[in-house]
This record gives sequence, structure tokens and C-alpha cells, in this order.
Amino acid sequence: MTADQKKHAAAEAALTYVKPGMKLGLGTGSTAAHFIDLVGARVRAGLDVACVPTSETTRHQAERAGIPLTTLDQHPFLDLAVDGADEFDDKFNLIKGGGGALLAEKIVASSSRYMIVIADDSKKVDTLGRFPLPVEVVPFGVKATAWKIERALKICGLTGKLVLRTKAGQPFRTDGGHAIVDVSIGRIADPARLSDLLSVIPGVVDHGLFIGICGIVLMGTDAGVKTFRKS
Ligand code: 5RP
Repeated sequence: MTADQKKHAAAEAALTYVKPGMKLGLGTGSTAAHFIDLVGARVRAGLDVACVPTSETTRHQAERAGIPLTTLDQHPFLDLAVDGADEFDDKFNLIKGGGGALLAEKIVASSSRYMIVIADDSKKVDTLGRFPLPVEVVPFGVKATAWKIERALKICGLTGKLVLRTKAGQPFRTDGGHAIVDVSIGRIADPARLSDLLSVIPGVVDHGLFIGICGIVLMGTDAGVKTFRKS
């Protein structure tokens, strides 16, 4: 199976958790895109759901698919959020934000009764950190903020290479108008500690460590979809 087929299979498995009347969070990225297509097909066949998109890209896809959209202002508590991930470990910690939508993704997932991650099996790691950790920062004072990110790494006994994300030669901007610093670390032994330290840095809007948010991972493999459920 290709990675894309595994992503599709995981997205199909997530669909079984969707019930009529639910308020859903829709993630961002190539795996979440499979799920949005599948939800769209169900909606066109009569399923009644209302969804909160986590990015403009997802909003456009959902609109094209005919999915009714709502907002967290109208529905501050969602039943379920389904999203992809860049990495997950066996404690259900995640790295997200490869697509730059981490802020809305974290707000939506943490406002949902359950967050289901859908992924192909390349995303499973023993220790987070192989994927560069996206840190969303205010463009003002990026260098000063970067210095504080390095200091947080040092406190955790880590070192990292910080790269300001670009797109087509220009500084990347999130839907919220922020910049992203991608931090290549390698191994993050204590992601919860790093998360806490990053979260209190002035200028850091949020970061891609999702700790204690995800409860179920559906992982596409050659042998079918494997379910990991937090006990
Ligand atoms: C976007 C994300 C994505 O969920 C993550 O990058 C995984 O993407 P893909 O499903 O394309 O591998 O966090 O901000």
C-alpha cells in the first residue's frame, strides 16, 4: 500500500466514529483531506453534521464538498476532532504543524470531547523529535524570541537548529498572520516539559507539541488500520 492509501484507510476508519448531529473539528493536511472528502460524501447522502475547519484550506475544501460549517463561537464544545499528525508516540503525544495550522488545530482539538489522529504508519515514533518542531511566533522580535526558544531547549538538555519557515522565497505566514520557526531537535525526551517552557515565552503564540489532547490514533498499515486507544 502507498502512504496515501494508508492515510485514506485511516480516514475511512475515523468515519465510523461520526454520528448524526455531531459537531466536528476538521483538521488540516493531506490525511485530513481524505477525511473531509469522506465526510462530504456522507453529507451529500444525508448525514447531518456541522463542522469547524482548522484552516482556510480546509474551509475551502469543506465548502466545495458541501459540508455545513459552524464556528467555535456558535459551538464552543465539539464532539470530535479528526486530524493528521507529523509524529505520534505511544503516550499519544503529537508533533503537529507541518502544514502551519497548529494554532487552530490545537484550539479545535482541545475543545473537542475526543481527538482522533489519522495517520499512515510512517508517523509513529518511539520518541518525538525526528520531525522539526513548528513553533508559531509573532513576527515582531523574532530573533529575541528565537533566543528564548534556544534557552528553553537548553533547560531541557536539548539543542536544536532553528529555521524561519519560508514559502516561495518569502517568510511563511499562518492563517493568523504569524511566522513559524521550525526547530530540528532529534529526540525530545520530555515533551511535556518542553511544551510548558515554550508556552510561556513572550512572542511564542503556540507550538506543535500536543500533550494530553489526543485519545485515539488510527494508523494505516499494510495489514489494515491499527487502533491505539488511550486507557
Ligand atoms: C498541519 C498538520 C498536519 O496534520 C500534519 O502536518 C500532517 O500532515 P499530513 O497529513 O499531510 O502528513 O499538523 O498543520
